[in-house]
Amino acid sequence: MSVLIKNGRIVTATDDYHADIFASGERVDLIGTNLEIDADLVVDAGGKLVIPGGIDPHTHLELPFGGTTTSDTFETGTRAAAFGGTTSIIDFAVQFKGESTLEALETWHEKAAGKTAIDYSFHMIITDMPESRTHEMRRLSEEGVSSYKLFMAYPGAMLSDDGTIFRAMRQAGEDGTLVCMHAENGIVIDELIKIALEQGHIEPKYHALTRPTRLEAEGVHRALAIAEVARSPVYIVHLSAYDALQELRMAQARGVMAHAETCPQYLLLDVSAYDEPGFDGAKYVLTPPLREKWNQEELWRGLRGNALNAISTDHCPFCLKEQKELGKYDFSKIPNGGPGIENRMSLIYHYGVNGGYIDLNRFVELTSTGPAKIFGMFPKKGTIAVGSDADIVIFDPEREETISYYNAHTHHMNIDYNAYEGMPVKGFTETVFSRGRMIIDRGEYLGRPGDGEFIKRGPYGGMYTPSRSGEIPSQAPSTRRGG
Ligand code: URP
Ligand code: ZN
Ligand code: ZN
Repeated sequence: MSVLIKNGRIVTATDDYHADIFASGERVDLIGTNLEIDADLVVDAGGKLVIPGGIDPHTHLELPFGGTTTSDTFETGTRAAAFGGTTSIIDFAVQFKGESTLEALETWHEKAAGKTAIDYSFHMIITDMPESRTHEMRRLSEEGVSSYKLFMAYPGAMLSDDGTIFRAMRQAGEDGTLVCMHAENGIVIDELIKIALEQGHIEPKYHALTRPTRLEAEGVHRALAIAEVARSPVYIVHLSAYDALQELRMAQARGVMAHAETCPQYLLLDVSAYDEPGFDGAKYVLTPPLREKWNQEELWRGLRGNALNAISTDHCPFCLKEQKELGKYDFSKIPNGGPGIENRMSLIYHYGVNGGYIDLNRFVELTSTGPAKIFGMFPKKGTIAVGSDADIVIFDPEREETISYYNAHTHHMNIDYNAYEGMPVKGFTETVFSRGRMIIDRGEYLGRPGDGEFIKRGPYGGMYTPSRSGEIPSQAPSTRRGG
């Protein structure tokens, strides 16, 4: 099957030009002007943007969490992603306490194999990591899982103590892999939750009131300090607020290999959503919670200035009926998470590019190239270039839609609400190619479950950090010059 995409405006993280693209198999073979080549399929992209398929580096499909399981399966979630112009995801496998991470990886391979519409990879959620098992991390990276997520939140379930975090980071630093950190002080948050419940506060908005930004900033500070001493890179997930961003900037300024993502919910929604009538505020019980609106400007600034390096969704959908309702009489029992996998590209294009916060190249960088580079997938993924996978989106910059659960163009996710209900967007995915195969054609899904393949990722940043063979730093990084 060969395809010729003609007359499009090709935009990558660095380039912006008009040309044709020819792919005879899974990869791009040729890019040039006025290509005259026979192809099985010729698509006219005149007047459209032709961009690398989106990469969402943070999704939770079929995740057991909070006494239930996320409502999108690998089949429904990846199909919704494809509709929205995302052609790769990095989801999370979970190692439960006492279990081997390699067994956990097997379990997640079984869940996803043969189901997905688009290519996928896994981070490994680590819930414990005694010294005797740190060698598993290198084995995981050999299996293409070159990043891990650890939690400073959710005591008793996911939380890792600082020793575990240090051990994992030190190993990652040696192996050329990457620790992703959920940075929030979960121990103090649990105390605040206890106080709120004792005072009879059960409504969804107390989820936000018991998770102040300062406790996220403290987690970010601690994660960055531990990474600095462990001499490893670190990636802060779902950064939501200005004071956390300031911690990130300070660490970056002193040379810590610190990366971070934010998500559409923190850029576009705010704490007032918890005041929706009845129990509807539960739709926004996600972690970290929505913040005061003024933080949004600061996050856009962080994206423009490169402190923040990626935009993921943290797609973690739970239906309002029956799932969020588990916490109807106790906000701390509402499963944490919200949807977004389908709407990310349009939301960021409209509110970011049309809104004047970021330019087109930066849009591509934040939604595709950045994640591909950080997570060891570039240049196979994340760009349009000869030899790269033909993961290509034809994006109509003029098409207007209203994001809604009730709009069949904007909602294919398996969840009974849309967090961005009623938000207008100008800029919409029209046609999607996944490794050269057309899987979405003007709103119609042409693929099948199992089209997607597992992406065996390379080392962090595409670089191999030579092993320091357990070397202990002769001098710990200091806060004072010469100190
Ligand atoms: O609310 C969220 N983010 N749920 C998913 C788990 C996590 O912390 O990413
Ligand atoms: Zn998290
Ligand atoms: Zn998450």
